[in-house]
Amino acid sequence: MFKIGVLISGGGSNLQAIIDACESGYIPDSRVAVVVSNKKDAYGLVRADKHKIPGIFLDRKEFPSSEEYFNKIADIMAEHDVRLVCLAGFLLMAHKSLIKKFKGRILNIHPALLPKFGGKGMYGHFVHESVIKAGEKESGPTVHFVDEIYDHGEIVLQKKVPVLPGDTPDILAARVLSEEHKVFPEAVKIVVAKFNKG
Ligand code: GRF
Repeated sequence: MFKIGVLISGGGSNLQAIIDACESGYIPDSRVAVVVSNKKDAYGLVRADKHKIPGIFLDRKEFPSSEEYFNKIADIMAEHDVRLVCLAGFLLMAHKSLIKKFKGRILNIHPALLPKFGGKGMYGHFVHESVIKAGEKESGPTVHFVDEIYDHGEIVLQKKVPVLPGDTPDILAARVLSEEHKVFPEAVKIVVAKFNKG
């Protein structure tokens, strides 16, 4: 059984898409083994609980440094035999202590067509606002490997959606989010298949 660990900060709709894709067999012989959230009230923890997946709130304020916080996350992932870590709406920048321990085994989803509209401060609403302000005709989610530079690692999969006249950031966000729910499980399926081939 291929075990996946998921880091969240919010609603967890991407987490739900990955859980569903494992349970349906779309991502074969795999399951989400643990969910870690930096927010106590993240609805994603409720989603994990409903699927009997251990959900852990890890309070960043209880750790003296980002390095120690992400070392603890790495320990939790190792304890659950996790082979692939997915950042699904996770709003902290992964520290190199986790990235080193899970080199080439961390995926992130970003709600824009990287490398455009990525980097520090480019998350959630700000991304879609910038895309519209820039007059882009298309946007869409990107799944990429996480390296030590924010929103920078090798791209696994991208899907384009149109930016339509009259789009507000919220309308565009919703269109991108529904595409995220397809592209993240598809990217995980591709990566799991590669890892299983060895
Ligand atoms: C989404 O906008 C996604 O693009 C970003 O985090 C937000 C929340 O996603 N990565 P989720 O519903 O918590 O998965």
